[in-house]
Amino acid sequence: MTEKHATLKIEGKDDLSLPIYSPTLGQNVVDVSSLTGKGMFTFDPGFTSTASCESKITFIDGAKGQLLHRGYSIEELAGKSDYLEVCYLLLFGELPSAAHKEDFVSTVKNHTMVHEQLQFFYRGFRRDAHPMAVMCGVVGALSAFYHDSLDINNPQHREITAFRLIAKMPTIAAMCYKYTVGQPFMYPRNDLNYAENFLHMMFGTPCEESKISPTVAKAMDQIFILHADHEQNASTSTVRLAGSSGANPFACIAAGISALWGPAHGGANEAVLNMLDEIGDISNIETYIAKAKDKSDPFKLMGFGHRVYKNHDPRATVMRESCHEVLKELGIQNPKLELAMKLEEIALSDPYFIEKKLFPNVDFYSGIILSAIGIPTSMFTVIFALSRTVGWVAHWNEMISNPYKIGRPRQLYTGYPERAFTPVDKRD
Ligand code: SDX
Repeated sequence: MTEKHATLKIEGKDDLSLPIYSPTLGQNVVDVSSLTGKGMFTFDPGFTSTASCESKITFIDGAKGQLLHRGYSIEELAGKSDYLEVCYLLLFGELPSAAHKEDFVSTVKNHTMVHEQLQFFYRGFRRDAHPMAVMCGVVGALSAFYHDSLDINNPQHREITAFRLIAKMPTIAAMCYKYTVGQPFMYPRNDLNYAENFLHMMFGTPCEESKISPTVAKAMDQIFILHADHEQNASTSTVRLAGSSGANPFACIAAGISALWGPAHGGANEAVLNMLDEIGDISNIETYIAKAKDKSDPFKLMGFGHRVYKNHDPRATVMRESCHEVLKELGIQNPKLELAMKLEEIALSDPYFIEKKLFPNVDFYSGIILSAIGIPTSMFTVIFALSRTVGWVAHWNEMISNPYKIGRPRQLYTGYPERAFTPVDKRD
């Protein structure tokens, strides 16, 4: 990184010279780490102007609506690659050769089964437990099974953990679903590709051979790609912060799953479908648009807006096209899609949404495709977590394999100054 400098002038203090680092792409950053030594902190709630780390994995240009993974555009990857190839790219930095891809796919396939003992964790949950609650618990428990690979400073341990997590998340996710519907868990099959295998474990039964539509499997694989990574979003930042304490990778991924669950983040796809159900009919759209604009009303148009994208979310564009293809191929007249399309049309012509640059994000369409495939709404964020696991692991590995410090933000304290303790018999 080339060094330029910014000068910070603070009344009564010497001018401060702060290094500026230039990126390959995107904004310059001002290194403020020396401020503590001068008795000052920066203040940036929500980290809207804060770069928390240096990374080479993913780049987002919010103004252009650009998303690159190791330099490759999401449009090219979603159109020409497949999820496991994108996993390889995110983890190792390059697209694999044919031989390397074959090895990678084979290694993942041979780690898709979970320990037989793991199934008993599910039985501790009620059948109507939210699958995300189950996922948080089961993934966090994985560290209890892999004492042979928890040395985070051992690259081989980090690599086998990456394989195990990528390979086992579909199995764990499908088991979350099977448990809620009271059907037997399905074992993975090595003759199926990653997306086919997930659909087999979700909808297959021991009673008959799984019938998997190639169109649905392709759409599923594309959904995995579109959710694989997204720079320093809330859940990835959570994984990095948890990892910075030296916590084992399974615990860090479980922390990421918890952060993703929120409706402002990965929980939005489930919230979009619930919102469409609540709106119910095109005639109610204006009422809900008004609620979204009303500051006194906590209602937000789920699936709209983004911290970074202030143009369009390129993933939503790809997802929108895929949505139409899947519904057409399956011959589904999905009234929710028609309602969603009308909502998008009205919202995008409304001055409030135009002024605040609130466009549909990745979550707006994903829920419609997933429900068309037959995935229940409560499983949408589980699938987001499944897809994002490779991004979380790639960022965790990038941090741990380079010099890092434990993350420890400070605060602006506005509480009481020191005061004397009052014995209880002297209090009012
Ligand atoms: C994901 O970070 C990532 O990369 C996340 C993600 C990933 O791949 O990891 O892309 C995945 O989380 C996508 C976002 C999914 N969330 C939703 O769809 C929920 C609805 N969206 C909002 O909650 C909101 O847009 C956020 C949380 C996504 C972004 O919030 P910001 O950047 O903090 O923006 P903001 O909430 O400050 O909103 C700016 C203004 C506000 O009005 P003012 O206070 O300036 O007057 O826009 C308004 C907000 O009230 N606003 C909305 C709105 N989103 C923002 N008003 C109505 N409906 C909305 N959806």
